[in-house]
Amino acid sequence: MSKVTVVGAGKYGSTTAQRIAEADVVDEVVMTDIVEGLPQGLALDMNQSRPVVGHRTKITGTNDYADTAGSDVVVITAGLPRKPGMSRMDLLEVNAGIVKQVTEAIVEHSPDAVLIVVTNPLDQMTTLAAEVSGFPRQRVLGQAGILDSSRFAHFISEATGADIQSVSAVTLGSHGDTMVPVPSQCRVGEQLLSEVLDAATIDELVDRTRKGGAEIVGLLKTGSAYYAPSAAAAAMAIAVVEDSGEQMPVCAWVDGEYGISGVYLGVMGELGSAGVRSVVELDLTEDELEALGGAATAVKEKVEDLRQIEL
Ligand code: APR
Repeated sequence: MSKVTVVGAGKYGSTTAQRIAEADVVDEVVMTDIVEGLPQGLALDMNQSRPVVGHRTKITGTNDYADTAGSDVVVITAGLPRKPGMSRMDLLEVNAGIVKQVTEAIVEHSPDAVLIVVTNPLDQMTTLAAEVSGFPRQRVLGQAGILDSSRFAHFISEATGADIQSVSAVTLGSHGDTMVPVPSQCRVGEQLLSEVLDAATIDELVDRTRKGGAEIVGLLKTGSAYYAPSAAAAAMAIAVVEDSGEQMPVCAWVDGEYGISGVYLGVMGELGSAGVRSVVELDLTEDELEALGGAATAVKEKVEDLRQIEL
């Protein structure tokens, strides 16, 4: 009996639950939220789509953590998006309170779960969930790298006209400013990205990728992206449930790899039932290594902000 819980039944959480359910690889997906009726209504709607879509996974909506008990994987999406007038620290404070409370409730009912954090600001929230849970660091990871890599791949495909499925792109580091694109690992078909696009065009695409979330927020006016983000979170959850050993860029605990230690950072991870089986060290150029080291320093500084908050 395999079970995945998604905490937060907003746009990101509900589409993640839907994607995992439609993959038909677990027995049950539980959605929970503080808003009464919301997860129940969405679950009923999703369950009624099963005859058409053709999957068996049952979806449960609840406001009670008892229903999440014994989950193999828990995806934490609960949190607020940044609102006008809110500083970065304000958002950090609000979401840190939510993630702490959610993590405590999850740990009580699913002490063996793998935690996948997507709530922003991602690096701090993943660090916080790891600390509050007391779980081995390998069992707590965050989602950012798959999304950024996927956005980068989309822009490369648009710029080159290449089939989207022939493009492989990799970004490491962190979300936003300290995202580290890894052109040496990007391919269009059999060719290196640098053989297909000039450096200036690659830089433009990298910049657009870095600001990928903001571009969508600007168009939507309210709310933020959730189709690509939920695809990324669902892929991670499924890799864990299936113990697949797939390699994906994820926010994982780095302990000596690339000469970096003691930080949650976007790296290539091999995923399995215990979370991150191992951090896979890619053959990076000197520039890419330096950028990754810079990202680690930036994340460590941001994590210090967490220490200023009373939780
Ligand atoms: N416990 C459970 N659910 C909660 C809690 C809590 N303590 N606090 C808030 N929520 C729920 C809200 O009720 C809401 O349904 O989290 C959900 C958030 O949904 P949306 O506002 O639609 O936000 P969404 O787009 O899903 O993004 C969620 O992911 O990408 C990040 O920055 C984004 O941190 C945000 C998160």
